[in-house]
Amino acid sequence: METNKNLLISPSILSADFTRLGEEIRAVEDAGADWLHIDVMDGHFVPNITIGPMIVAAAKRVAGIPLDVHLMISDPDYYLEGFHEAGADILTVHPEATHHLHRTLTRIRDLGMKAGAALNPSTGLEAVKHVLAELDVVMIMTVSPGFGGQSFIPTMLPKVRELRAMIDASGYDILIEIDGGVSPKTAPDIALSGADVFVAGSAVFGSPNYKEVIDELRGAGRQ
Ligand code: DX5
Ligand code: ZN
Repeated sequence: METNKNLLISPSILSADFTRLGEEIRAVEDAGADWLHIDVMDGHFVPNITIGPMIVAAAKRVAGIPLDVHLMISDPDYYLEGFHEAGADILTVHPEATHHLHRTLTRIRDLGMKAGAALNPSTGLEAVKHVLAELDVVMIMTVSPGFGGQSFIPTMLPKVRELRAMIDASGYDILIEIDGGVSPKTAPDIALSGADVFVAGSAVFGSPNYKEVIDELRGAGRQ
């Protein structure tokens, strides 16, 4: 199998140095990041608490690239407007955390943002199959959400391939985003499976050379 694709790279600030967040954002942007991934966790849907709209708004003041905001929160509907006002460009929710996914996605788009759905490792593609018309991004979680630096779950690769086929057959323009354990080591197989966007936290921010890692990740799209 071969691929020749311009992958988008979305570094996750979860692994950035929060005492220097502005500098870190500028650094990944200078290193060629396409989007900036922001992990919002509520301590309820996932066992960790991270960032709210205030930090998203602060990131917006320095970022020149789209803010890719990943809501790992229960009942995200209450916060869609708040994250829109804070400056989110792409807003991704978990179908496991909302009762009426179609309504949630429609509201995200009505507010003028791109709409995403993120699937936990145990959630099937059936969860998004009937709402493809409302989606700009489907995110496959390749770790159980909650923390950076976890190991990639390789059994998610067939799921990515199946999603690629589902989207291609649908004719909709939907990006496949992969989140969790993405590194120069795991990237080639993920790219071959049909991914369009890579989230990478520890791989980018844990490296002394952000550009080198971002280039390497993007290079996985050209094998
Ligand atoms: C995990 C988050 C990820 C995380 C990825 O719950 O959604 O975005 O930051 O971190 P790495 O790339 O270190 O697996
Ligand atoms: Zn994420």
